[in-house]
Amino acid sequence: MKHLLTMADLQPEEIHTLIDEAEGFSKGAIWTPLRQAFVSNLFFEPSTRTKCSFEVAERKLGLEVIQFEASASSALKGETLYDTVRTLESIGVDAVIIRHPADQYYDELIEGCRIPILNGGDGCGHHPTQSLLDLMTIRQEFGRFAGLKVAIVGDIRHSRVAHSNAVALKKLGAEVVFSGPQEWFDENTNYEPIDRAVKTADVVMLLRIQHERHERHSGISKEDYHREYGLTLEREKLMKPGSIIMHPAPVNRDVEIASILVESDRSRIFKQMENGVYVRMAVLKRALAHKIGGRYHEAFAEK
Ligand code: CP
Repeated sequence: MKHLLTMADLQPEEIHTLIDEAEGFSKGAIWTPLRQAFVSNLFFEPSTRTKCSFEVAERKLGLEVIQFEASASSALKGETLYDTVRTLESIGVDAVIIRHPADQYYDELIEGCRIPILNGGDGCGHHPTQSLLDLMTIRQEFGRFAGLKVAIVGDIRHSRVAHSNAVALKKLGAEVVFSGPQEWFDENTNYEPIDRAVKTADVVMLLRIQHERHERHSGISKEDYHREYGLTLEREKLMKPGSIIMHPAPVNRDVEIASILVESDRSRIFKQMENGVYVRMAVLKRALAHKIGGRYHEAFAEK
């Protein structure tokens, strides 16, 4: 079963293959299933990018998208996630994309469910498709991972993006350092002070403060956070030539990053979102191709 649950599931060669396929899709290649195929996006937490870009990816591949609104589903009557997925499977859905507030929600699904599960984010755990689109963006920029230094800055402990990227980038040979408030670090976090991290990194990846996952308010004001840990206009001037700014978004402008930098020359934030569609097409193809077969069409060269 071609689930995609964490970046630990993927070997470096598989990561490169998925990015290669995503690049192909970005240039106009297309894959279509051999029969009518159904997918459903089960989002039990808010999402703009992941949910919408999965849906665009699904429609580009000619998949039928079965609408599911958690707030109007029988989950409200107490139906478990397991029974929800088994139900969709029984009525003919071929794969599900799930975002859920529980860490490793998928543990209770993978034994009994017979369709691929693509993790759209589990609690503070993992966000593999975000990591893949981040890796695609980095590879487009530098052509490699080995020897690069990536500084991940912010609320590390509560960030599934930080967890997935740390696993994947280290596996691919990059150096990963973390910066931000140390109270939000995991054990053994490879800490660097913000000014040194910003000066020496090839990629500065900012994270949103995940207030919704905090047990209590940190007490730090937006202004103080920006000054102490944010990418301010002054810190951006310290960045190396050729280095880039990334952020998974949603962005809190003027908190983790100065508003004007979001759309600056160094920023790849909207490129990341664009790449998200192509990476999700590649992940959907990986999940469905072995089960239902498909046809791959190379992009036609422009005359
Ligand atoms: N980056 C990301 O996962 O954004 P959404 O929460 O909007 O899906």
